[in-house]
Amino acid sequence: MKTDLLAAIDVASGLDALEACRVHALGKAGTVTALLKTLGGMSPEQRLVEGPRIQGLREAVTTAIATRKAMLERADLDARLARETLDMTLPADVAPTGTIHPVSQVMDELAEIFADLGFAVATGPEIEDDWHNFSALNIPETHPARAMQDTFYLAGEHEPPMVLRTHTSPVQIRTMVEIANRTQKAGEPIRIIAPGRVYRSDWDATHTPMFHQIEGLVIDKGITLGHLKWTLETFLRAFFERDDVVLRLRPSYFPFTEPSAEVDVGFSLEKGKRVIGGSDGWMEVLGSGMVHRKVIEACSLDPDEWQGFAFGCGIDRLAMLKYGIDDLRPVFESDVRWLKHYGFSA
Ligand code: PHE
Repeated sequence: MKTDLLAAIDVASGLDALEACRVHALGKAGTVTALLKTLGGMSPEQRLVEGPRIQGLREAVTTAIATRKAMLERADLDARLARETLDMTLPADVAPTGTIHPVSQVMDELAEIFADLGFAVATGPEIEDDWHNFSALNIPETHPARAMQDTFYLAGEHEPPMVLRTHTSPVQIRTMVEIANRTQKAGEPIRIIAPGRVYRSDWDATHTPMFHQIEGLVIDKGITLGHLKWTLETFLRAFFERDDVVLRLRPSYFPFTEPSAEVDVGFSLEKGKRVIGGSDGWMEVLGSGMVHRKVIEACSLDPDEWQGFAFGCGIDRLAMLKYGIDDLRPVFESDVRWLKHYGFSA
């Protein structure tokens, strides 16, 4: 029996055949197992003779199976290695790596600058209702400001009408309403920025139907235009990384601020290019003002108790100015060559 078993193991052609041999000999109903079971019924003298013989058989079979198995596995591996040749000298394809979009980069920079000034980041929906986008901001139904901003209205019947927000100013409203509801009379100062997408029906070298704004809002007691100017100056100096950034506030009009000011930033000409800093000329960068009493009232806060300032600034424009981008349209076209050129590594 031993010779037969060992011969069968030696010629097992593959791992499956070898496993069949193992089961045949050493499995529960295997031939060697059966022999082992007979030991129990033997006399001690008989067991003394048969025991080592049967154990020896079991060991011989086990060893033979292990040896054959190692051989078959080795052959298997050799065959695979021969089959699956890999040329390690072939140059690898370079996997393209992404870059951080300049607009994302600027948003991060702004969040960081304002965090240092104690501002939290607030958000609101891009699909906004008429009340938050217009009415609460003191822009009534018939107000020319609604026409001023070429608004995308949502198709279909909506009550209230829904729009793609035309500016980030509705986040002012959402923040004040939330504070008014949360703390009732106790109140609590507000210092937030709200960066995000806004939409207007416009398309040329400096206007795209979607663009980005950052809103700023401070509501507290005894806030003045001086606080506004200091905050804007500090922010723009930090953003453009120059101490010689100067601002010019021009009286303007927004329905939601009174007084209102448009803010210009001074630039100088370096080799014919405009660089922020100095005052060879002026460039408009944002709209601002003291939050209108009616807006504070619309949010259920008492305007005799709470005052503040707000500003709204085009983020894409800031990115263009800081990183020397001169056409706005490619900023949103996802051309990989453009992204490679202007993008930031992670
Ligand atoms: N919402 C105004 C705009 O989009 C900017 C602005 C914000 C002006 C806050 C004043 C105060 O043009």
